[in-house]
Amino acid sequence: MAEIRIRNKNERISGEAEVRSFLEKQNVLYEHWDTSKLPANLVENFSLTDEDKQSLLSVYDAEIRDLAGRRGYKTWDIIALSESTPNLPELLKKFEQVHTHTEDEVRAITAGRGIFIIKGDEATGYFDVELSAGDVISVPEGQPHFFTLMDNKAIVAVRLFIEPAGWVADPYDDPAFVK
Ligand SMILES: [Fe+2]
Repeated sequence: MAEIRIRNKNERISGEAEVRSFLEKQNVLYEHWDTSKLPANLVENFSLTDEDKQSLLSVYDAEIRDLAGRRGYKTWDIIALSESTPNLPELLKKFEQVHTHTEDEVRAITAGRGIFIIKGDEATGYFDVELSAGDVISVPEGQPHFFTLMDNKAIVAVRLFIEPAGWVADPYDDPAFVK
């Protein structure tokens, strides 16, 4: 279940209702999918064949189509990152810059863990959203953020797009951001 850390205050927020209500105020959509639907071979499996990816998309077909229908997303795929991913350190370095997109960044985590660091409103500043399997997040268009992995360095997620080209990152140079 997702947990929030507000960086300025080092304050943590946990519990589905509290997390959802905090994120709602920051315009970030948060939902949760049922991980008990996952077949055993897809639980915490990070080296997925094309067939595995297809079956993962089938398991969550209803959830994907429901979310897509409500939010206007038109295509989706699976991303899997782990220490066996070629150039993982370089990839993470590229991810770990504050940036924006011209469409929502949508991730439904199905294995592993990851963190979105997001710029909140003036009073809140930057906050971390720690995600694990079942967590679904949509960072709105134009909201500064970046993504990184947690200690286990592995994640599998469904990504949804209006069009994949919209996911190009525009760097957001922010003196207010301190690592
Ligand atoms: Fe992004």
